[in-house]
Amino acid sequence: MAAQGPSPEAVGSVAVHTFAAQKSTTANMSMDGHHVNATAGGQGGGEPARFADYEDLPEGHFYDPDAEYEPDPEYAATLAPDAARQRRERVGPTGRPLPYFPIPGPLTEHGSAKVIAMCNQKGGVGKTTSTINLGAALAEYGRRVLLVDFDPQGALSVGLGVNPMELDLTVYNLLMERGLAADEVLLKTAVPNMDLLPSNIDLSAAEVQLVSEVARESTLQRALKPLLADYDYIVIDCQPSLGLLTVNALTAAHKVIVPLECEFFALRGVALLTETIEKVQERLNPELELDGILATMYDSRTVHSREVLARVVEAFDDHVYHTVIGRTVRFPETTVAGEPITTYASNSVGAAAYRQLAREVLARCHAE
Ligand SMILES: Nc1ncnc2c1ncn2[C@@H]1O[C@H](COP(=O)(O)OP(=O)(O)OP(=O)(O)O)[C@@H](O)[C@H]1O
Ligand SMILES: [Mg+2]
Repeated sequence: MAAQGPSPEAVGSVAVHTFAAQKSTTANMSMDGHHVNATAGGQGGGEPARFADYEDLPEGHFYDPDAEYEPDPEYAATLAPDAARQRRERVGPTGRPLPYFPIPGPLTEHGSAKVIAMCNQKGGVGKTTSTINLGAALAEYGRRVLLVDFDPQGALSVGLGVNPMELDLTVYNLLMERGLAADEVLLKTAVPNMDLLPSNIDLSAAEVQLVSEVARESTLQRALKPLLADYDYIVIDCQPSLGLLTVNALTAAHKVIVPLECEFFALRGVALLTETIEKVQERLNPELELDGILATMYDSRTVHSREVLARVVEAFDDHVYHTVIGRTVRFPETTVAGEPITTYASNSVGAAAYRQLAREVLARCHAE
């Protein structure tokens, strides 16, 4: 192919682009077989393909978390064989065939909410980021969403532009003061359809105070009960521990999502987490299910990331979501901006990934 026409530089750039857009490369051949344009979707100017969203992908293409990275030729060369296989076999980043997750239709009525606990006792794995962005993506699809900040650090509240220190009433009050209506604590977020039960450092006292309560493990479940009818999804952002607050979240939940950072120690401690989930299932909440393991901060440029993801799939098989969240600086930026990536950088690959996760979560719920 290269011998037929383009200059060596052009050949180099073709190599870069093919992993994103091999199919349209052929479509962009001129009559005599020369390359006219090697970019996807017929965009001119030799720019690499940047798809606005998963839905915008031309037929025959699929979500490619690598599309966001500046594709330097050396990197692209290492990726190309794998990406070509992925395209041919429609294999997703987890190495399994990538199913199609349909765009959910509108709802005619709302409730009763499915409660999801975003849980991993390991710190910094993407719990809060996933809570905000899964919530915002579900809300974009017309689902009514309540996010519960269940970490005394208040990172979820901060991530939605709320200053936790200025709050008079938080989820702590809802837990500890019988008779307090949830409406008094609820905050609207800038995202339509999405509300927040905020928290701040006060919540750390609850861990101690709850110990002497009757049915201490189901305090959050009781507090959320009146809200179930108003929402389709309630997502609880847990703190990085398996203490009483997390057990409360698991007792209140129907499903657990476990974000796992794609790094060497990712699987460490997961056995303890699954044991805790099983104990809560047995003793407190027989409805509880592990919905899925979410691989986060995946960087397909590193063999390490790919190996860790392969091991996670080996260990958890179908429990691992097909959707994988790539590592990008866009996520820390959104925390500073105090909004989800779906509004902060609506066309980014990160936003597309969380929209796909929302569709995958919805598809799993509907499959039941
Ligand atoms: N996909 C990603 N790519 C790059 N950075 C990310 C990604 N997801 C999250 N981050 C960043 O990593 C840091 C930790 O993420 P996050 O706060 O969501 O984790 P967490 O599990 O909630 O942490 P904690 O256990 O402390 O509550 C944050 O600075 C966040 O912006
Ligand atoms: Mg957090």
